[in-house]
Amino acid sequence: MKTKLRALIVDDSQDMVELLVRHMTEMGFDTFAGNNVVEAISILENSAIDVVITDMRMPEVSGYQLVKYMSQHFPTVPILVVTGYPDLRDAVEVVKMGAMEYLIKPFTFEELKAAIDKVIEDPNFNQVEENQEKEEVVDAYHGIIGRSEPMQKLYATIRRTKNNLATVLITGESGTGKEMVARAIHYTSQFSSAPFVPVNCGAIPEQLLESELFGHVKGSFTGAVNNRIGFFQAANGGSLFLDEISNTTLAVQAKLLRAIQEKEVTMLGDTKSQKVTLRLISASNTNLLDLVGKNLFREDLYYRLNIISIHIPPLRERHEDIPLLVDYFNEKYANENAREPLVINKRIMQVLEEYAWPGNVRELENFIHRMVILCDKKVDFNDLPDYMKMNISNRKEETSLLTLKEVEKNHILKVLSATNNNKTQAAKILGIDRKTLRQKLVT
Ligand SMILES: Nc1ncnc2c1ncn2[C@@H]1O[C@H](COP(=O)(O)OP(=O)(O)OP(=O)(O)O)[C@@H](O)[C@H]1O
Ligand SMILES: [Mg+2]
Repeated sequence: MKTKLRALIVDDSQDMVELLVRHMTEMGFDTFAGNNVVEAISILENSAIDVVITDMRMPEVSGYQLVKYMSQHFPTVPILVVTGYPDLRDAVEVVKMGAMEYLIKPFTFEELKAAIDKVIEDPNFNQVEENQEKEEVVDAYHGIIGRSEPMQKLYATIRRTKNNLATVLITGESGTGKEMVARAIHYTSQFSSAPFVPVNCGAIPEQLLESELFGHVKGSFTGAVNNRIGFFQAANGGSLFLDEISNTTLAVQAKLLRAIQEKEVTMLGDTKSQKVTLRLISASNTNLLDLVGKNLFREDLYYRLNIISIHIPPLRERHEDIPLLVDYFNEKYANENAREPLVINKRIMQVLEEYAWPGNVRELENFIHRMVILCDKKVDFNDLPDYMKMNISNRKEETSLLTLKEVEKNHILKVLSATNNNKTQAAKILGIDRKTLRQKLVT
C-alpha cells in the first residue's frame, strides 16, 4: 500500500528537475522525474502518480502535448504547469486542456507549495473515489443521467473544472441539459457554497439587460429609484450562468468582455468599478462561431468565454442513454404520483430508442411524465403517438409490402450500384445474361 503521494516532475532542464525534486521531497512527496514527455508518459503508465508538475517548452514534445494527452488518458490526475515564458495564450490553452494551476519561473518554495496545496488539497479531491471513477463507466453524475461515451467525457471535464475559475461555454440543442451541466459544474466545485446565479439573456428586454447584469445607481435612468446590484455582484465568489448568451447586443458584449478581462464591473450611472471574482458559465443552442462570422458576436468575447468548452450531443446521437433516462423518469414520476413505475416492454423501448427526440431529454422527460399519469400499469403500443411509430411502420412497409418483382428490381439496382454500373459484371453476379438484365430493368 502506498502511503506517500507521488509527484512526477517533467522538465528538460536537469537543474529545474533537481530543484523541484528537492522541494517536493521536503513537502513529503515521493518523486519521479522525466526529462521529456515520452519518459513522463511511460512513468505515468507504470506508477500511480498523484500530481504532475510539467514545464511547457521542451524540445520535441511540449508540455502542452503532455497536458493534452493526460486530459484523455489520465483525466483525474491534477497538473501544475511551470513555465519560464509567461504568456496568456499558453495559460489559456493549458487550462482548456485540463491543467489546474499555472506557476511562472522563478518561483519560491512557498509559491510552489501554495500551488501544490491548491491542486491537491481540494475539499472535493478524493484520491480513491477519483481513481475508481477513472476506470468505471458510470450511469450518472450529480443527477445527470447517461452512460454513453460523450457523457463520460463530459463528466471528466466537469471534474476538471473543480479547482479553477476558467470560463465554460456549454453548447447543445434545446433540452440537452445545458443548465443541468452548469449547475453540476458549480455544485461540484470548491465554490459550491457561494451562489449560483442563472440569467436567461433571451428573456430580459434588451434595454434592461445591462442594468440587470451590472446593477445601477439611483437616478441613472427613468425608473431607477434605488441603487440596485446586478447579477455579477450577486454571484460574487460563486458562478454566474449566462444562458442564451447569443441574445446579447454588441453593447452588452463589450461590457461583458471588460468585466472578464478586468475582473470588475461598473454599475450603470456609477463612476467607480467594483471587483468581482466568479466563474462565468455561458450556454448557447446556436453556433456562436457562425454569429462571429456574421459580426453579430464579438470574436474576442467568444474566446474569453470558451476556455473550457462542453458540447452536449443531441439524444439521437447517444441512443444508449435513452433506456436509462426512460427508467429514471419512469421511477421519478411514479414516486411523485405515489404509484408503481409503468411496465415498458422491449418493443416499446425499441420505439423510444429509435425515435429522434427533436426536443431531446426535455421531450423525453415530458413524454414519460405524461405516460405515468395516463397509462394504467403498462405502456401499450397504442399509447405511443403515431409520429413516434413512424420509423417502425415505414420499415415494415419496406420489407413486407413489396411485390416479388419490386424486391427483384431493388436487388438488381443494389448489385449495379456495387459494381459501379458495370452491366457485364452485374449480370454475372446475378447469374443472368446481359440481355435479361436489360429486360428486367425496363419492366
Ligand atoms: N442527462 C440528463 N439527465 C437527467 N435529466 C436531464 C438530462 N438532460 C436534461 N435533463 C432534464 O431535461 C430538462 C431540460 O434540461 P435543461 O433545462 O438543462 O436543458 P437546456 O439544454 O438548458 O435546454 P434549453 O436550451 O431549451 O434551455 C430538465 O428538466 C433536466 O432536468
Ligand atoms: Mg436552458
